[in-house]
Parts: sequence; C-alpha cells; structure tokens
Amino acid sequence: MNRHSIYEPENAKILNIREQTEKEKLFEIELESGEPLDHDPGQFVELSIAGVGEAPISITSSPTKEGASFELCVRAVGNVTNALHNLKINDEVGIRGPFGTGFDVEEFKGRDVLFIGGGLGLAPLRSLINYVIDRRDEFGKTAILYGCREPCEILYEDELDQWDEMTNMDLHQTVDRCPEGVCWEGNIGVITTLIPHVDFDPDTTIAAVCGPPIMYRFVMEELKNRNLPDEQVFLSLERRMKCGVGKCGHCQIDGLYTCQEGPVFNYADVKDVEEAL
Ligand SMILES: Cc1cc2nc3c(=O)[nH]c(=O)nc-3n(C[C@H](O)[C@H](O)[C@H](O)COP(=O)(O)OP(=O)(O)OC[C@H]3O[C@@H](n4cnc5c(N)ncnc54)[C@H](O)[C@@H]3O)c2cc1C
Ligand code: FES
Repeated sequence: MNRHSIYEPENAKILNIREQTEKEKLFEIELESGEPLDHDPGQFVELSIAGVGEAPISITSSPTKEGASFELCVRAVGNVTNALHNLKINDEVGIRGPFGTGFDVEEFKGRDVLFIGGGLGLAPLRSLINYVIDRRDEFGKTAILYGCREPCEILYEDELDQWDEMTNMDLHQTVDRCPEGVCWEGNIGVITTLIPHVDFDPDTTIAAVCGPPIMYRFVMEELKNRNLPDEQVFLSLERRMKCGVGKCGHCQIDGLYTCQEGPVFNYADVKDVEEAL
C-alpha cells in the first residue's frame, strides 16, 4: 500500500506509451514521489484523469521490474480509458493504490505453474509471469496458454516471442478465428482447446487464470478433466468498482467485496458463490 491516503490520488507522470493493438496501449507510469508502487502481481490501481473520472486498472508489470515505474495495459472503451489514450508522454494522471488481493506468490513457490490468459486477461497475468521468470529458481516448470479473438488482438507480441524461446517455458497460443488473408500459423479455436495438449502434473501444478467471465466455467471444466484440484486454481474476478477500498459496495458478489478480498480468488472459495462465475 502506498503512503498516501487511500482516497486521494497521487500525481504520476506518463514516461512512455507503446501501442499494442488498435484498442490497447501500454503506459509506463511513475509516481511523483519517485517511490515504487510496491504491489503484488494481480493487484490494481485506480487511475484518474482530472475532469474526467477514475477507473480500476490492473498493474501489468511485475514488482520485480527494475526502477520505480510501473506499467498499465489499457483498452480504450469509455470515458477514462479514451481520455488516457489521448494523453502523451510527460502528461499527468492520478493514481490510488495498489489495491485488492493479488496472487499469493508464496502459494506458487516450489510448484509448476500453468498460466491461462484470455484477451486482456493477459495484462494482470503478465505481472505474475514476469515475477516467476525473474525468480526462476523458486518455481518449477511453467506453461502459458494465451488466446484472443483474432491475430490483430494479440498483446505483448515481442514478449510472447521471448517467453517462447525460454527453456522450461511451454507457450501455446490460439485465436478464435483468423480472417482470410491474415497470416497465422498457430492454433484456431477457443482457449480450452489448448488444455488437452499441455503437459502438466496435477499433483505439482498450480494454475493462474485471467480472462473474460465466460471463459472461467469452460476452463474449469477442462482443468477438472485433467484432475487439477480446485484448491490449486487461482482466478481474477473483475466486477464494476468505484471506490476500490471496500466502502461503496459496487463490487460486491453475494457479500464478497471483489475490490478487497479479490480480484484474485482461490477457485475453491468462490465456486459455490452464486454470480461469481
Ligand atoms: C480489478 C479490475 C482491473 C481492471 N484492469 C483493467 C486493465 O488492466 N486494463 C483495462 O483496459 N481495463 C481494466 N479493467 C476494466 C476497466 O476498469 C473498465 O473498462 C472501466 O469501465 C473503464 O473506464 P472508462 O471510464 O474508460 O469506461 P466507462 O465510461 O466506464 O465505460 C466502459 C464500458 O462499460 C459500459 N458501461 C459504463 N457504465 C456502465 C454500467 N453502469 N453498466 C454497464 N455497462 C456500463 C460503457 O458503455 C463502456 O462500454 C479492470 C477492471 C477491474 C475491476
Ligand atoms: S469498489 Fe467500492 S466496495 Fe469495492
């Protein structure tokens, strides 16, 4: 948690902007204080733009990244995110956080790790992936399954290539469809079609899953078919949020405050919660 009031945004500067796709940009941001965010993978910040508003955004960089800056991968969908996409390097934004419960990295230590990311779900997952890569000795085998709708929506293309070349890392990619004339040599089909092809031992593996809500039920069915126990699956549930700190109730699912108890939950804890998945 940073040193500021949880209600008052701290000024921060945009250090760099990288276009990822037509809709997503990667923003490198640093707090005015020059201090690192000090976050856990899977946590989020509330990003504000003066005169426009505030939106929760996952921190996509790993806490192990060098320097004090952090990264947010943002899809332009509404007021705040479109306004952010119109900003330039050196412009200012407001940051509250980091907030929420992220991935408990201690639970992952010593295990093989299976990352399953759908669409923009790769943004929070990338923080954990790079954490594991930066502390390679503390984890076992790793596999990444990543799927998006079309090749033009692929995020972090350069990084996916780097991950693919790493030893001890098994990367599988898929797209739901490939328009005629577009070059794509990978799998075509929804992300669950990758699960039967990945080699993992259910006794030693822990899975981190992030993606659109529709994805979870089908992914969980496939993981069950592979005998992965519910307790060994962590997933990120995103709900409409406002305050981000457990005060307004906007993010509640059957009494669970996703902004505080989540967004990352153990599947065993939420599988019977109505509306959670
Ligand atoms: C924990 C968490 C992490 C997130 N991480 C990311 C991230 O890393 N990157 C990212 O790009 N996004 C992320 N999001 C999603 C992002 O916060 C939302 O898309 C947010 O609404 C964007 O704010 P906005 O002002 O730009 O859009 P808004 O103006 O809020 O509009 C967003 C979309 O929602 C619709 N909408 C607006 N209000 C409502 C309503 N009351 N009911 C139904 N639909 C409505 C709009 O029509 C529009 O399509 C995250 C959300 C959460 C909760
Ligand atoms: S967002 Fe306000 S209580 Fe969770």
